[in-house]
Amino acid sequence: MTASRSPRILVAAASKHGSTHEIAAALAGFLQESAAGRASGVTARAVHLEQLPDPTGYDAVVLGSAVYVGRWLEPARHYVTEHSAELRRRPVWLFSSGPIGEPPFPPDEPHDAGPMSRMVGARGHRVFPGRIDKARLSIGERAMVTAMRAPVGDFRDWDVVRAWAEEIAGQLSTVVPGQHAQPAPSPA
Ligand SMILES: Cc1cc2nc3c(=O)[nH]c(=O)nc-3n(C[C@H](O)[C@H](O)[C@H](O)COP(=O)(O)O)c2cc1C
Repeated sequence: MTASRSPRILVAAASKHGSTHEIAAALAGFLQESAAGRASGVTARAVHLEQLPDPTGYDAVVLGSAVYVGRWLEPARHYVTEHSAELRRRPVWLFSSGPIGEPPFPPDEPHDAGPMSRMVGARGHRVFPGRIDKARLSIGERAMVTAMRAPVGDFRDWDVVRAWAEEIAGQLSTVVPGQHAQPAPSPA
């Protein structure tokens, strides 16, 4: 019999220049602070996905990646593929961080959102505006940003991030800590 305890949530994101790690840290904080999170005593832990956190110790997982040239970062794609069986046994939410400017550009979903969501049976996927800080970019990235005339700045919207965390915390009330579903079949 599983002893009753509070749900544990892993929030892991892949980032090149730090802004997506900061979104993951904020999500973990907002999950815990939310009314639903406090009611269920949720513990949310933000971990850099590059550290390859083991999802098996968690009851639910929120995974994210920065988007570069239309794609999730390679460590995030690899992580999802590697852990897909364990992830399918838990509620999983995905997010991407990328679009820049007002309105955020590009407006479309990154290429990996659909395949990654299907692979883990994700309950949802969100795209959050990101940040471009020229001082942090490599010479090649800076050239690309200049050539594309991409807007520069921090377009992250913390209210939107908080609202999503509250939505997830609300759905966690159905999660029984320590009880994991049988792995759902992989998509064909
Ligand atoms: C060279 C380069 C290419 C980018 N390509 C995309 C893209 O295709 N789609 C997108 O939504 N954002 C794109 N971005 C924006 C980044 O995803 C955004 O700056 C994000 O917040 C970076 O996250 P990080 O700080 O965690 O690395 C690009 C940024 C750079 C510098």
